[in-house]
Amino acid sequence: MKSQENFILAIESSCDDTSAAVLCNDTVLSNVVATQHIHEQYGGVVPELASRAHQQNIVPVVHQALAKANIAKKQLSAIAFTRGPGLMGSLLVGTSFAKSMALGLGIPLIEVNHMQAHIMAHFIKGNEQQPPSFPFLAMTISGGHTQIILVKDHFDMEVLGETLDDAVGEAFDKSAKLLGLPYPGGPLIDEYAKKGNPKAFVFPKPKVEGLNFSFSGLKTSILYFIQKQQKANPDFVKENLHDICASIQFTILEILMDKLKLAVKTTKIKQIAIGGGVAANSGIRSRLKAAETDLGWTTYIPKFEYCTDNAAMIGIVGYYKYLQQDFASQNIAAKARYIL
Ligand code: KG4
Ligand code: ZN
Repeated sequence: MKSQENFILAIESSCDDTSAAVLCNDTVLSNVVATQHIHEQYGGVVPELASRAHQQNIVPVVHQALAKANIAKKQLSAIAFTRGPGLMGSLLVGTSFAKSMALGLGIPLIEVNHMQAHIMAHFIKGNEQQPPSFPFLAMTISGGHTQIILVKDHFDMEVLGETLDDAVGEAFDKSAKLLGLPYPGGPLIDEYAKKGNPKAFVFPKPKVEGLNFSFSGLKTSILYFIQKQQKANPDFVKENLHDICASIQFTILEILMDKLKLAVKTTKIKQIAIGGGVAANSGIRSRLKAAETDLGWTTYIPKFEYCTDNAAMIGIVGYYKYLQQDFASQNIAAKARYIL
């Protein structure tokens, strides 16, 4: 019997990346991402500008995704879109576009939770690793989120802990800003940290109960530390950039690893799957690799293009929902706070 080919068009517009992907079942045929550079000069995402840029990008990005996949609109089986969580003005663009296109083509519409999609990215065919088996622990680390989730099944997930203030990517970016580095500073801290001493300076770790996180205190302590040092030596940051970055990164990674260890201890689950832009960090990658031998964990990191915000991960959720005929109505609205 010839296996059924379902073509899903997926749209992601929750923050500052406009993305469209076409999947054939669980295989990605195209995954186009237009990253908005307009925010760099402001040192963070400006919601109104993000929304306007999505409006400009959405049509060409969808066209490119279809062209790259070599799929015509009439071949599409369904359209999946990010309903939330995210910036309302950004979500509205993808949501309205997906609704009108599905209505125009007369095909089903599928709503997707962005956080669930970060986890489901592990199920895209073409990742170097086989997907984790259930149950496993997922940690989503990005500029917008930091969560530890118990994943019991594709659609049965429980948030065990999350950040009470800044996301881990924000902690990287805001620290970088204090050092005078451009946005987004996370990758730069990673780069400079490689040549620095992680124990050169000690920053306090927050005391947060259970599996929740807090990163806002770290930012404040870095600010006071720099101000104090600069009083004695105005060139302190320039002269110690590598050591400062290595020490900041070390502290952030300690916070993440401490919580992961606690999650493993409480759940007795040693399968750890990571997602989100911060999964690109070379330090977290080597810590996780080391944990495989030192702690007996099995760790999973999707291909980088499926870690950062992208529509392929929306498409894989879309595919699984399509199989269950789990469709949305045309009355559906975007949801800025969309709890997993
Ligand atoms: O998943 P993502 O692309 O978008 C959000 O949903 O936020 O994540 C972007 C975040 C930014 O905060 C960026 O600084 C951080 O991921 N990031 C990194 C690295 N690469 C990206 N942080 C630390 N080290 C990296 N190598
Ligand atoms: Zn994200």
